[in-house]
Amino acid sequence: MISNKLEKAINEQINHELYSEYLYIAMQAWFAGENLDGMAAWMEAQSQEERFHAMKFFRYLLDRGGKVELMAIDKPPVDFKNPLNAFREAYKHEQFVTGKINELMDLACAENDHASKSFIQWFVDEQVEEEATAEGIVRQLEMIKDNTAGIFMINAELGKRTFTPPTTEE
Ligand code: FEO
Repeated sequence: MISNKLEKAINEQINHELYSEYLYIAMQAWFAGENLDGMAAWMEAQSQEERFHAMKFFRYLLDRGGKVELMAIDKPPVDFKNPLNAFREAYKHEQFVTGKINELMDLACAENDHASKSFIQWFVDEQVEEEATAEGIVRQLEMIKDNTAGIFMINAELGKRTFTPPTTEE
């Protein structure tokens, strides 16, 4: 049975992951409106990954005898101004999520909950990739600035992304 403190913190994390899904859907909509369909597709894949993260916490909490309590999801922004700003916001958001995952790990350690430490470690590793990917796109967009040809090249490249849920960790 999971502790009340960890149950509460995991429920909050489910909310953070669902907000992440929501935020990336909002970015998808904005990119689609700008006719940058590749970037919109990238955001769609990212939102699907966030849903997967949320449900991974959801299932873990149930497996440990905890109670899932869903909370209201905040309204995401509507206008992201330009591609660089949107990806900067995505990168900033991933840094926020990393902080929350680290807090969860600190709590699992304080509670001496070895199963939770092992479970949360997957997210600690995942966040390294999440931040690196977003930061990499920010760096590329910073290099090309307002170069339209460059924007369309990155748009085409990002449009190749799809999300396939990992099966081995389930
Ligand atoms: Fe679920 Fe992008 O962190």
